[in-house]
Amino acid sequence: MSAADSAAPVTLDVRDRIAVITIDSPPVNAMGHAVRLGIVEALDKVASDSGIDAVVIRGGGRCFSGGADIREFGAPPAEPTLRQVCARAEEFPKIVVAALHSTAFGGGLELPLSCHYRVADATVQVALPEVKLGIVPGSGGTQRLPRVIGAKRALKVILSGDPFPARDALDLGVIDALLEGGLTDAAVAYAKKLVADGAALRKVRDLAVSDAEPEVFAEARKTWEKRSRGLLAPLACIDCVEAAAKMPFDEGMAFERKLFVQCRDSDQSKAQRHLFFAEREAAKVKDVPRDTPKRPINSAAVVGCGTMGGGIAMCFANAGIPVTVLETSADALTAGLAKVERNYAATVAKGRLAQDDMDRRLSLIAGATDYADLGTADIVIEAVFEEMGLKKDIFGRLDAVMKPGAILATNTSTLDIDEIAAATKRPADVIGTHFFSPANVMKLMENVRGKETARDVIATVMDLGKRIDKIPVLVGNCDGFVGNRMYHRYTRQAYFLLEEGALPQQIDKVFLDFGFAMGPMAVGDLAGLDVSYLVRKRQVQFLKPGERWPVVADRVVEAGRKGQKTMAGWYRYEEGSRKPLPDPEVQKIIEETSAELGIERRAITDQEIHERCFYALINEGAKILDEGMAQRASDIDVIWTNGYGFPVAKGGPMFHADQVGARHVYERLAHWAEAASPALEPAPLLEKLARTGGRFADL
Ligand code: NAI
Repeated sequence: MSAADSAAPVTLDVRDRIAVITIDSPPVNAMGHAVRLGIVEALDKVASDSGIDAVVIRGGGRCFSGGADIREFGAPPAEPTLRQVCARAEEFPKIVVAALHSTAFGGGLELPLSCHYRVADATVQVALPEVKLGIVPGSGGTQRLPRVIGAKRALKVILSGDPFPARDALDLGVIDALLEGGLTDAAVAYAKKLVADGAALRKVRDLAVSDAEPEVFAEARKTWEKRSRGLLAPLACIDCVEAAAKMPFDEGMAFERKLFVQCRDSDQSKAQRHLFFAEREAAKVKDVPRDTPKRPINSAAVVGCGTMGGGIAMCFANAGIPVTVLETSADALTAGLAKVERNYAATVAKGRLAQDDMDRRLSLIAGATDYADLGTADIVIEAVFEEMGLKKDIFGRLDAVMKPGAILATNTSTLDIDEIAAATKRPADVIGTHFFSPANVMKLMENVRGKETARDVIATVMDLGKRIDKIPVLVGNCDGFVGNRMYHRYTRQAYFLLEEGALPQQIDKVFLDFGFAMGPMAVGDLAGLDVSYLVRKRQVQFLKPGERWPVVADRVVEAGRKGQKTMAGWYRYEEGSRKPLPDPEVQKIIEETSAELGIERRAITDQEIHERCFYALINEGAKILDEGMAQRASDIDVIWTNGYGFPVAKGGPMFHADQVGARHVYERLAHWAEAASPALEPAPLLEKLARTGGRFADL
């Protein structure tokens, strides 16, 4: 093991009586077995070398360490475990300083937390992201971090799972010093000074936990019991931090281990890990190689400053990309931009954005009423009313003014991208960029490729998605694309169920029990029932002869009930409250509709609602995969968990289908197709998987 041995995952060299242990395991210095072994071997050498006074542990290459190698999760633990490596560093007889740059995440922060001192350069980001994978930090993170920064702050770091940049890491006390100049030299100098000053071996395990009053934990539980919606890991993290405060260190470590194993082996953690990989996989496009040249995007334009256009403009401004927004008139523009400003101001008022940042972002958003002002933008996104004629007209105008090479995108949620592209002389430059509402908040970006969309346009837009902090997923051009196409399948079943005997509150309860934050009826009220009314009017043209079509939702809208905006939809609402209240008036409309259709209402079980709604979703997913409208089953899971509130703990509809088994889903659909709704006829792909025992994940 030496600096010359480039393949060694850990190297050791000595500078001026300070040992420098470098983790060198590309791409992210994951704490896999070879790295752990290498660190212990290096420490063993240093321990017995009287020519060495102290140790610096650093990361070679891109970062300090991205954390544990979560692909080792399934394997039996190989010693030394990360816990043992951490203990060795903490008990080491000479001062150990961790020198961090770029990422120090998960296990890549737990090791530094076991060192006697932590320094970093300005590029550092620290995080314990385990909660996002459905587990608790498992190598002492929940026991040591509270000892370093107090329970309250530790809860903030551990429960968010988010990265904290250098300044915040210093303010929180996670690191002792931010060093300037070359990090390794500065860390060596720091270690030398500690030795010269006779600094203590500051063992974190011996420190007391501050800020650990009972209210701190009570408050965290109260918040997370609501927010986590059935996820185990956040509450387990709170239990662990509380254990750090109440138990001796070794007992706390044993407690953390127990909860780690419980979480790791749970179905929901498997689902969360699936989604973690699925999101990364979604960024890859099969026929667009990674090295496809991308078009530069240094400026943007948005047409329409309504609900979506304003939010999309904010996405660009938030990422530092100047954006020009076009509206039909000066008044409409002023109103649209005022809404954007109010939106930012609300975030500032909540303390989540600095006034300076708001000002900077607003200064990146310009207004226009003349198409000529958009011409120099690298990309333009159209977000006007959902009307084909209007969109085609606008694309014709954009074609006339946009510079050659500009990307012409539409935020349509259902319309045919190819038809829109045909309104231009450059269909290869046209693509769908389907954002979700509120566009500045929701992470999903469903990018829709048209028949002629150029590969470099796809590559550029997928890359742009990441730049503006979205999770981009590429889908094909079909009615509703992937997300809304599937959504309409289960809402249609929900409407049928209402017509056959169910009530809105019963349907929503099945969704809440499954882990959704809201059921489809309450969602309809929130989004506005008049919006889906128009969509249905258009969809009705695609009906096959004799196919049943639900009318109950139309009857509700026709009674003037448009949802929350009219204080009445599937539910009634009281002034100043968004709480959906069951309404006998709605029940009456629903029962009258059943009578109108000649349907004798019957008792509907929760199981029927569950199977007809969720399996309809899976069935449509199977058709989408068969048609190649989604690249892979896991992309559908990413879309549904990030755009439609499908419970993360269930991993998405297609992962869930694999968990319950294609055969079960097939059999239940076949049953309901026969007994209640021919629309539930199982898809050929589902039938094939059921017959062969296959899984969506393996397609
Ligand atoms: P909206 O009605 O809030 O905003 C549309 C805006 O476009 C209005 O401000 C209007 O003045 C402006 N506009 C109309 N004609 C124009 C023209 N010729 N030139 C410039 N501006 C014009 O509509 P929203 O909800 O923002 O929807 C916009 C698009 O986004 C639609 O295609 C919709 O299907 C899609 N979408 C909507 C979602 C939602 O949840 N609201 C979600 C995803 C996509």
